[in-house]
Amino acid sequence: MTTPRVFVTRLIPEKGLDMARQAADIEVWQDPLPPPYETLLQKVKGLDALLCLLTDQIDANLMDAIGPQVKVISQMAVGFDNIDIPAATARGIPIGNTPGVLTDTTADFAWALLMSAARHVVDGDKFTRAGNWKTWGPIDFLGPDVTGATLGIVGFGRIGQGLAKRAQGFDMRLLYFDTQRYPEAEQKYGAQFVEMDTLLRESDFVSLHTVLSKETYHLMDDARLKLMKPSGILINTSRGPVVDPAALYRALSSDTIAYAALDVTDPEPIKMDDPLLTLDNIIIAPHIASASFQTRDKMAMMAAANLIAGLNGERLPNCVNPQVYDK
Ligand code: DGY
Repeated sequence: MTTPRVFVTRLIPEKGLDMARQAADIEVWQDPLPPPYETLLQKVKGLDALLCLLTDQIDANLMDAIGPQVKVISQMAVGFDNIDIPAATARGIPIGNTPGVLTDTTADFAWALLMSAARHVVDGDKFTRAGNWKTWGPIDFLGPDVTGATLGIVGFGRIGQGLAKRAQGFDMRLLYFDTQRYPEAEQKYGAQFVEMDTLLRESDFVSLHTVLSKETYHLMDDARLKLMKPSGILINTSRGPVVDPAALYRALSSDTIAYAALDVTDPEPIKMDDPLLTLDNIIIAPHIASASFQTRDKMAMMAAANLIAGLNGERLPNCVNPQVYDK
C-alpha cells in the first residue's frame, strides 16, 4: 500500500504534525504567509488529504483540482466559512473542524477585549510610551464600570456562553440573542433571551459570537449600530464581515457608539489605509483569540485526528458535513 500524501498549508504546532506524520507523507508550506490560491491549486493535485487553515479559500474549483481520490479536508479552526461546504458534500468529501477546544481561550480573549476597551488599557499604554504621562489625572481615561453593567451576547453557542460565565463573576445583567433558545444556559447563567433590537438598546457592552453566513453578513450595519447606546462598546471575536467596517467607522467617528474592540476585521488582514486605523476609540487585534499554547496544540491535534480518521476511511471525530456519510 502506498503512503497517503497530505499537504499542510502552514506550519502548525508540532504535536499535530507529529500525529499526521505517523499516517501520511506530509508536505508543509513553510512560508509564514498562506500559499497563494494559484499555488494551492497546483500543490493539491492528486492528494489524499488536505490540512488547511481559515486563511485558505477552499472552493469547488480547488476540490476538483485535488481530484476524486481525496478522502478528507481537515481544517485547523472551528469556523469554516472559507470552505464551500455544499460543494464538499456534493463531492462526498468530509470536512473536519476543531470545535470545543478553543471555547475558553476565545471567551477569555473576548473578555480581555471588553475589559481593555472599558478601562483604556491599550490607549493608556500608548499614552505612557508616547511620554504623555505627566501626572495622575482625576478626569483622565475614564471608562464605564464593568461590574453591574449590562452585557448583550449575540450568538449564544459555546463561546457566547463562555463569555456569560465570565460575566457572572462581575455581577452583570446578561441578555442574549440567537436564532434558537438555550433554556439550560439561561438558567445556568441567569441570561435573558431578548430580540436583537432590545439587546442593542439595553446593553452597555455588545459582544458578537455568531458564525458568518448570508444572514449574519454585515449584521452590525448603520441601523443596528445606531440602536446601541452612545456609551456602548462593541466587541467582535467572531468573523470580521459580521460588522460592516464602513458603518463602524461612521459610528465611532460620530460618537454614535463609544468604543469597539475587534479581533477580526473585514478584510483580514485590515488594509493599512482603512479609516478605522485612524481612530483612537478602537482596539484591533490580529485574529488571535484562540492563540494560547495549549489551545493551538489541541487544535492541531484535533485537526490531525480528523485527517487520520479520513485517511483510514473512518468517520471524522468532528465533521461539519456528516451528510456525506448518509450516501
Ligand atoms: C476559529 O477557529 O475559527 C478561530 O477563528 C481561530 O481559532
